[in-house]
Amino acid sequence: MNALVTGATSGIGLSVAQGLLALGHNVFATGRNSGRLGQFREEAKGMAGTLHTLACDLERPEEVERLIKASTDALSHKIDLLVNNAGIATFGEIEETTLEEFERLMAVNLRAPFLLSRATLPIMKKQGDGLIVNISSVAGLEAWAGSSLYSMTKFALRGLTGSLLAEGAPSGVKAVAICPGYVATPLVSGAPVPESEMIQPEDILKTILYLRDLSPAAVPGDIVLKRLGGL
Ligand SMILES: NC(=O)c1ccc[n+]([C@@H]2O[C@H](COP(=O)([O-])OP(=O)(O)OC[C@H]3O[C@@H](n4cnc5c(N)ncnc54)[C@H](OP(=O)(O)O)[C@@H]3O)[C@@H](O)[C@H]2O)c1
Repeated sequence: MNALVTGATSGIGLSVAQGLLALGHNVFATGRNSGRLGQFREEAKGMAGTLHTLACDLERPEEVERLIKASTDALSHKIDLLVNNAGIATFGEIEETTLEEFERLMAVNLRAPFLLSRATLPIMKKQGDGLIVNISSVAGLEAWAGSSLYSMTKFALRGLTGSLLAEGAPSGVKAVAICPGYVATPLVSGAPVPESEMIQPEDILKTILYLRDLSPAAVPGDIVLKRLGGL
């Protein structure tokens, strides 16, 4: 299987990319941190699959275009799995929210998945097979005080997923949003929940593998992955 994983330098994306590689899949991994990507290339030398990497900033649309070109070339225009995982979070009351923060979250959490999905969907349609996984959040199902920007992007990502599924289904292409609660990654290092009580990044890998293993006609709606006993 050929997979493109964004946000693969940390947390969930790194775990997903490492897991897919260990299983012998070809992975195109991206993030901004070129040092971490270099380290990943070293680690991947002993792994079963082939790793391609590109450092790029998804905040910039021209960088996303560069990523699309590099990944489709490296994967020979065959993409079986796209994981739109890269994401950032800011929290604060609406009155204190700046336009810069708004634009940054929209660019990384929403525009980049849109551009990558727009480029990948026709490839998958032509193949007659493919899976797009968008990492939303429980904050994409419910909004709280102080979560406006993050929730707006994660709700909208579910909207994108719905249209991708509707447009991809006649050609055998699936799209699913995964909506986790707290996952033990650097993103939530300040959360009021001990790491040991959080969902583990490997749980997202397992969920993606479950999705890939379903028969062609089976597709779940959004997958809400709750933490036992809370969000
Ligand atoms: N952890 C949770 O509790 C939780 C819960 C629900 C949903 N999620 C979602 O899960 C996804 C992954 O989060 P995580 O918890 O694994 O966070 P993380 O450990 O902070 O990783 C975030 C990843 O996104 C990449 N990224 C951020 N800004 C980028 C940019 N401008 N351009 C390119 N890449 C960028 C980072 O790469 P660089 O640093 O190399 O740029 C990093 O690889 C996010 O969409 C997040 O909203 C997380």
